[in-house]
Amino acid sequence: MLLEGKKAVVTGGSRGLGRAFCVRFAQEGADVAFNFSSDEQGAAETAKAVEAHGRRAMAVKASVVDEKAMDALAARVEKEWGGADILVNNAGISQPLPIALMEGSDWDTVMDVNVKGAFLATRALARGMVRRKKGAILNIGSLAGERAIESPVHYAASKAAMRGFTEALCKEFSRHGIRVNCLAPGLLDEGVGKNLPDHRLAEYVKHVPLGRIGTVDEVAAFAAFLVSDRNAYMNGETVLMDGGL
Ligand SMILES: NC(=O)c1ccc[n+]([C@@H]2O[C@H](COP(=O)([O-])OP(=O)(O)OC[C@H]3O[C@@H](n4cnc5c(N)ncnc54)[C@H](OP(=O)(O)O)[C@@H]3O)[C@@H](O)[C@H]2O)c1
Repeated sequence: MLLEGKKAVVTGGSRGLGRAFCVRFAQEGADVAFNFSSDEQGAAETAKAVEAHGRRAMAVKASVVDEKAMDALAARVEKEWGGADILVNNAGISQPLPIALMEGSDWDTVMDVNVKGAFLATRALARGMVRRKKGAILNIGSLAGERAIESPVHYAASKAAMRGFTEALCKEFSRHGIRVNCLAPGLLDEGVGKNLPDHRLAEYVKHVPLGRIGTVDEVAAFAAFLVSDRNAYMNGETVLMDGGL
């Protein structure tokens, strides 16, 4: 197994891609802690799926923008599990708004969760990684931050920020034995893109050489490799996973 004996923290694990990470990491041998903002039923289902693979699950209701809560989550993982080997900054939101209708508060909400949330989770969890001189951090970007595709501007800007965040962190953390990479998926079968109108979906798929959208399971399977020790030399990279767009 790729992640035998590892302890992973995934932000936003109650559904969508975050849940797929939690379940796949458990299948590959990791204990998984995750947070979520409101979906308690979804979180319980994720925890159950992790435990079904014989691994420990820790589900914590805590927003990534809550500084104290993220520090408390990290402290709990340290105390109960001896710290995390892996962090996936997955929690993310979008709003289907054209710029003319976008309030300053809409911009702030998306940037806060998608960018500041990754900063707060990383700062909290990386302290232990630095002390132990090992760790793997995976930031979740998006095709929307990498290519000119139709996407709300605040979402695209927040996801483009993940590339810079990844590169700067990589420079800062490499001396501590921590690798940092970014995985940028195209449109997937679950999550933020699910409510796209049919005509927009058809238009998108027309341009995908593989002729279909991706699945969260495909992304999670690759992510398990990215954060594993078998991927020991990839660092500071943003990898697109979009069917060839
Ligand atoms: N799905 C796609 O097509 C796609 C493509 C490219 C990139 N991505 C990226 O993949 C990541 C996951 O997105 P998704 O599509 O799986 O979305 P999703 O189904 O809407 O799930 C979002 C997850 O993040 C959690 N979350 C939201 N705000 C949070 C906060 N403030 N604090 C903690 N957790 C929070 C949600 O918790 P609650 O359930 O409690 O709200 C949920 O678990 C995002 O970063 C997104 O940008 C997705």
